[in-house]
Parts: sequence; C-alpha cells; structure tokens
Amino acid sequence: MSQTKQPLAAPPAIIVIFGAAGDLTKRKLIPALFNLASQKLLSPKIAMVGVDRVEMDSEAYRQTLGREVKSFTGEGFDQALWDANIGKAYYMPGDFRDAESYLQLKKFLLQVGEEQGAPCNYLFYLATPPSFFGVIATELGRAGLAEESDDCWRRLIIEKPFGRDLESARALNATLHQSFHEHQIYRIDHYLGKETVQNIMAYRFGNGTVEPIWNHRYVDHVQITVAESLGVEDRASYYEEAGALRDMIANHLLAVLSVVAMEPPNSFDANAIRDEHIKVLKAIQPFDAEQVLLDTVRGQYGEGMLASGEHLPAYRDEPGIAGDSHTETYVAIKLMIDSWRWAGVPFYLRTGKRMPGRYSEVVIQYRHGPNMMFRGVRERRSDIEPNRLVLRIQPDEGISMEFNAKVPGTEFSVLPVRMDFDYEDYFDESVTSSGYETLIYDCLCGDATLFKRADYIEVCWELVQPILDVWQALPPRSFPNYPACSWGPEEADELLARDGYQWRMVK
Ligand code: BG6
Repeated sequence: MSQTKQPLAAPPAIIVIFGAAGDLTKRKLIPALFNLASQKLLSPKIAMVGVDRVEMDSEAYRQTLGREVKSFTGEGFDQALWDANIGKAYYMPGDFRDAESYLQLKKFLLQVGEEQGAPCNYLFYLATPPSFFGVIATELGRAGLAEESDDCWRRLIIEKPFGRDLESARALNATLHQSFHEHQIYRIDHYLGKETVQNIMAYRFGNGTVEPIWNHRYVDHVQITVAESLGVEDRASYYEEAGALRDMIANHLLAVLSVVAMEPPNSFDANAIRDEHIKVLKAIQPFDAEQVLLDTVRGQYGEGMLASGEHLPAYRDEPGIAGDSHTETYVAIKLMIDSWRWAGVPFYLRTGKRMPGRYSEVVIQYRHGPNMMFRGVRERRSDIEPNRLVLRIQPDEGISMEFNAKVPGTEFSVLPVRMDFDYEDYFDESVTSSGYETLIYDCLCGDATLFKRADYIEVCWELVQPILDVWQALPPRSFPNYPACSWGPEEADELLARDGYQWRMVK
C-alpha cells in the first residue's frame, strides 16, 4: 500500500496470466493493467504473457484484448498508450495440466525477457477456475519456475474462491506451500483493494476523534451490507457450487469486517496489519448448530419486477440453474466478537443478488446519550434517531454522519440531519480503480498488506464451516423466499427486529 503522494512505477517484471482468454482477464485484469499504464505506474520494461487452452497466436490475442478493452473504455481509448503497453502482450496456448506446457513456458519467458528487456521477475496470475490453482502451482514448481534468486523474484496471485470449505482450503494451502514460500503467495480479495475499504483504516487511525468512540462503550451495533442488483448472469456453473455464503461472506464481507473491527497495528507493515485482521476474526464467537439456526438467514430470489416494469426471472429459471436449486443468493448473519473492544456489540452482515440496487456500506450505529431529555417535546417523531456513521463503499463513495439538529422555530424539537463527505468533492475521480489496480501494483512492488495470508483464509473457513454443515444437513424449505428487486427475505428483517433494530434504509 503506497503512502507517498506520487507513487513510482512498479519494478519491471513479466506478468503471466493463466486463464488469459477468460472473463476475469477481459473484464478486470486487462483494464486494470491499462489503467496502471495510463497512470504511469508500470515500468516500460513490463511484459505480459497470456496462457490458456484456446489455440491462437500473440497477434490474434492482442487484437481480441484491444477489442474488449475498447468496448469498456469507449471513446476515451488511448491507442498509443495501448500499443506501448498491453498491445505488446504475448500469448502461449497451453494445457494447465500438462507438464510439457510449463517447460515450453519456461523457454517462452526467457525469449520474451530478451525481446522486451524485461528481467526474470515473474508474476504468475491464476485467473483460472479454482480447480486449476493447485495443479498450476505444482507444475510451476516442477518446471523450476517458482525458484527465486538474489536478482529474480517469483510471485503467485491466486484468485478467489480459495477452497470451498475448511478442508479444501487447508489442502490447497499445503499444495501451494510445496512449490512456493508463503512470502511468494498473494491471495487476492479485491474488496481489500477498494479505495473506500482502505480508507476505513485511514479514517480510523488517521483521526484523533474516531478511535476513542470506536468500541462497545459508544457503538450500539454494526451493519455491513453488500447488495448487488445483478443476478447470477452467465456464471451458473460456478454459482450453483458456491452460493452467497462462499462467494461473498467467506471472503469480501469478512474482509471488510476485519478492517472495521481490527485493533490498531503497531506499524504499517504487512504482517503487523494482517496479524490484527486475523486476531479479530479469531475472536468471533464460533457458531454451533443452534446458533446457525438462530443467527443466520439464507434466501434465494424468485421472479420480480424492476421499477420500469421489466420482468426479472427467478434464480431457478436462469440459464444453467437447476429447477429445484438449493443455492442461496442471499445471506444475513449476526456475529459477536469476544474482545475487550467489541464485547456485547452485534455485527450484522448481509449480502444478496437481485437487490433493488448495487449498494455497499458499513453502518456504525452509536448508543444514545445517557439522558434523552428531548423526548416528549417533539411532535413529529416519537423517539430520537441514534447517531449513525455510514461508510459508503460503493457506488456513491464517501462517509456520512447522521445526527440530530434543532428544527428552527420556537418549539424545541430535533430532527435527524446528515453531514456528508463525498470522494468526488476532494479527489480526482478520473483515476479509476476497481481494486485490481492497487492489488497488481502492490504485488509487483512486493507489498502483501492487502493480500490474505494462509492463516487468514483458514480462520475465515473455520468460521463459515458450521454454517455450511447445518445448511447442507437441512436443505431450505422455503426457496425462493424473496422476489427479485427486493431487500431479501423477511427473516433477515426479523434477525434485527429481535434485537430491536432494523437494517438502515438505503436512501
Ligand atoms: C465477486 C463475486 O468476487 O465479487 C461476484 O464472485 C460479485 O459474485 C462480485 O458480483 C462483487 O464485486 P464488486 O466489486 O462488483 O462489488
């Protein structure tokens, strides 16, 4: 994570993308590399090599990438910048399971290095289906491509999902460690790369007024929402196996939670920060079967309608989805953290597809003052609203504080008002970032702060495993249980209502 205002270009390297013809490469990685190039954050000696099973040559690959990126950037496409950077990409067809392909790759990388003047630093990006993560790492190791020397580093970025349960995540960690050292492995969670998620640390630890009231004495409860308007799109085979718990809670929402609830690290060092993330996740009260039934809610969207009148199909009617699918597209859970700071403060997490909007936020709801002296003098509301700090992750990025103010007039009544900070008022919004820019840049620079260590991944799965087990043993009876374009099943509202709360209405 860079702390300087004008970061330097990342060190030269060859970026090797496995899954080069896939969706993630087209939608996220190439645009992110292009954004980095336009911000002058890539070395002129950077080279990119795509590897995939599709047969084509480098020229055809460059043209495909160019077409894809133009369709995202539209008229703002800078051809000269493209030609000088991604436009020089190489492609090598290869079978991820075939040892021979890796020996060819080794030779190919030497050739690319010579042609581009790129050094022997290799960043291997695994943008493949997860079933290939272990085999690619193993074959890279066998081909000698994981070995570092004084002059050359070798790094591996692994996409999510990292395993599909605790056992498989442990097994994958063990497989990776047979070929790569932990310091070479960068497990990605693009939520940690989002500016607004990184800003939670800046807000908490860069302001003297925030931390003193960031604890159980002042905070009543915390809500973390990641709502998506999209449905399953064309990812049926992945999503049917994953579901919202694995796809979002086990990684992105727990990642946000760890940043919100962590203790201040002793330094800005990668391991100091990651130690604190893990410490807070380990302090979450583990779920037993009873608690899973009580404190978790799962949902699946049925058909629904947009405000425009457009009909939205039910999850079970989406292409590639089983007509009796039990996969959850919505999850809400209540967590308690057994720590000095958070004892007694509930954390409510929810995420869902086909919500009425794309909206991610963290709400810190504060306790009332000790003596509500205004009660009874107000006519317009029966109670005083609590103070809420809303950290808006996306799309309307910013922070707001909701507090009460006196309504002008002779009568002394108060109403809630809002103080807002919007990123666009202060910062250059043309510096676009999906999170991937920061993460690729950090990996090239060897900064692992925003990546997940092996122990972090396993702690997340330890937490989620009992929920997976109970849900598997008791298939849902009421799916679909929320209409597309709604805020999820009623049980999710009841989860909070039981404690006297409600989800913050997104305005
Ligand atoms: C991905 C999930 O990791 O994150 C997707 O697999 C989800 O299902 C996406 O849509 C959300 O990311 P973002 O950045 O669009 O909020």
